[in-house]
Amino acid sequence: MTFIKDQQFDGNPNAIRDTNHYVKEYAATLVEKWDELIGWDQRAASEGDFFIEQLKSRNVKYVLDVATGTGFHSVRLLEAGFEVTSADGSAEMLAKAFDNGRFRGHVLRTVQADWRWLNRDVHGEYDAVICLGNSFTHLFSEHDRRKALAEYYASLKHDGVLIIDHRNYDSILDQGFSSKHTYYYCGDQVTAEPEFIDDGLARFVYKFPDQSAYHLNMYPLRKNYMHRLLREVGFQAIHTYGDFQETYREQEPDFFIHVAEKEYQQH
Ligand SMILES: C[S@@+](CC[C@H](N)C(=O)[O-])C[C@H]1O[C@@H](n2cnc3c(N)ncnc32)[C@H](O)[C@@H]1O
Repeated sequence: MTFIKDQQFDGNPNAIRDTNHYVKEYAATLVEKWDELIGWDQRAASEGDFFIEQLKSRNVKYVLDVATGTGFHSVRLLEAGFEVTSADGSAEMLAKAFDNGRFRGHVLRTVQADWRWLNRDVHGEYDAVICLGNSFTHLFSEHDRRKALAEYYASLKHDGVLIIDHRNYDSILDQGFSSKHTYYYCGDQVTAEPEFIDDGLARFVYKFPDQSAYHLNMYPLRKNYMHRLLREVGFQAIHTYGDFQETYREQEPDFFIHVAEKEYQQH
């Protein structure tokens, strides 16, 4: 197994709990491999039209994809007829997303923007903001999480919706890791597993068939904690799906998907 040096985890890798580190983690070579990891076709088949239906049922037209990555959801939503703006803090990722879009006959509207100051670089009001693929887990301080959510909230229209997901870290922290390997990281012969886990760090290793291995350091978000943050920043109603299902046992899903409504509700 070859551990990739250009990711720059110097010293004790378990000590790196820093929001800014995501730019270094998504090194050029990992960006190149990301699509092997997620497997676009299998991923599209496994999530079906879940996001498209969530958005269509709310008459969404303008979507801001704040964690574009290599462009999987931006491209799917463009193809489903939505007007999509594709943002990400990583220039490497956006370049790859742009190429992926071109390859499929689209010109992505890309903006390089960090979530913590999103509205400095992204202007306009959106019907929906999406932050998918276990991306929010890259924020390591509560201050950064609150600021990012406040920035998403501000970029939504008064009745807009935020769709945000993360791994079922409750289950990983409380029961240990197991994965159906069915959703999100669907690539053949690619594994994604935690190497280290405590209340403040989930360090995952991703292994590829060519024997290369990459790491991502992430913050293990608990579901109830996410609910509290979403409420406190102003979202009025939050509905959480487990692996795209409305009903599930708490420990079962690999991923949680929160659909958070901005429109004011009288209680
Ligand atoms: C796990 S990837 C997911 C990409 C894509 N949504 C998917 O599902 O395949 C996370 C993305 O979030 C971006 N990201 C992480 N922290 C960020 C931040 N603070 N501001 C902007 N983008 C960030 C990374 O650059 C990366 O492209």
